[in-house]
Amino acid sequence: MSLSKAQKKLQQTGFLDIPTDQIDYAAEINRLRKEKNAVILAHYYQRPEIQDIADFVGDSLALAQYAAKTDADMIVFAGVHFMAETAKILNPTKKVVLPDLKAGCSLAESAPADKFKAFKDAHPDHLVVSYVNTSAEIKALTDIVCTSSNAEKIIRSIPENQPIIFAPDRNLGDWLNKQTGRNMLLWDGACMVHEAFSIDRILQLKVENPDAEIIAHPESQRHLLKVASYIGSTSGLLDYVKNSPTQTFIVATEAGILHKMHQDNPDKILIAAPTADKTCNCSECEYMKLNTLRKLYLCMQYELPDVEIEETLRIKALKSIERMLEITNSPSLKS
Ligand code: 13P
Ligand code: SF4
Repeated sequence: MSLSKAQKKLQQTGFLDIPTDQIDYAAEINRLRKEKNAVILAHYYQRPEIQDIADFVGDSLALAQYAAKTDADMIVFAGVHFMAETAKILNPTKKVVLPDLKAGCSLAESAPADKFKAFKDAHPDHLVVSYVNTSAEIKALTDIVCTSSNAEKIIRSIPENQPIIFAPDRNLGDWLNKQTGRNMLLWDGACMVHEAFSIDRILQLKVENPDAEIIAHPESQRHLLKVASYIGSTSGLLDYVKNSPTQTFIVATEAGILHKMHQDNPDKILIAAPTADKTCNCSECEYMKLNTLRKLYLCMQYELPDVEIEETLRIKALKSIERMLEITNSPSLKS
C-alpha cells in the first residue's frame, strides 16, 4: 500500500488528531501484541523506548534470522524499510508492518536497481554479493546476501578464483577486501551516518581520553577503521565492549547502540563518536529515528503501513537471502 493510502486510512479514523497525552502507548502496544499475536522486532539504532518494548532487539542478521523462524501472525518491524521487506520476503503469508514507511536507508538508496543491473550485466562472470541494506529489486539481482556480522564468512565461502561484485557499501567492501585478500569489484555506495564521523574530532577525543579504545562499524571510512582497535557489526561491538577489560570506549556507529551498551555496561564510559557538525556530538540515522512509540502503536492498531512484495520479485530475492542463511548456519565454513 502506498504511503498516501495508508495515511488516508489513518486520517479517516480520526486517530491522528487524538492528543498524545490521552493514550498510554506502552499499555496499548502490550494489549495489541497479545490480541494480534504480534512480535515486535527492533534494531539497536531504534529509540530507547522502542528497544525497551520490543520482543527482540538485534543486529540486521539476528533480526533476519528471527524473522525466518517466528510463528507470530504479525511482524512489527521497528527498523528501516529494507529490514521489514526482508522479513516479508521470508514470510509472504504474514502481515509485516513498520511504524513509518518513510524510514528508508541512504545506503540502500545508493544502489538504484536499473543502474545496478547495467553494472552487473557488464560483468557477467562475476558473482554478486550484496549487503542486506538493499531493496528487494537488488536482492533479486544478487547471488548471496550478507550482513556486517557474516560478510567475511560469506566471502570466504566463495572459491578464490571466482570474481565477485560487492554492493552497495564501498567502505564495507574495501574492509572485506583487506580482511580476505580478495579484489572484489565494489559498487560506489555508502551510509551517510557512518561517513559523517570526523576523524579529527575522534582523534582529539582520544588525546583527551588516552585510555579509551576506538571501536567502529565497518560501514565507516578507511581512515577511521585504521585507528579503530576493534571493527564489527552492531552485535560485534556490543559483545566486544561487554567482554573487554577496557573502561572507556569511543563508539563509531549510530548513537542508538549506546542504549544497550549502557545497559550491558553501567560502569563503563561510552563516548559517541562525533561528526564534523559541532552542534551535535554523535551521528544519528534520521531514518531509524522516524519511528516513535506513537507510530508503533498506530501501525499495530491499523496494521498499516504494511509491506507488500510482488511474488515473482519475492521468489528471486528470497533465493539470495536463503543462501545467506544457509552459509551462516553452516558449521563447516570458517567465520
Ligand atoms: P548491523 O545491524 O548489521 O550491524 O548493520 C548496521 C546498519 O547499518 C543497519 O542499518
Ligand atoms: Fe541505512 Fe546508515 Fe541508517 Fe543503517 S545507519 S539504516 S545503513 S542510513
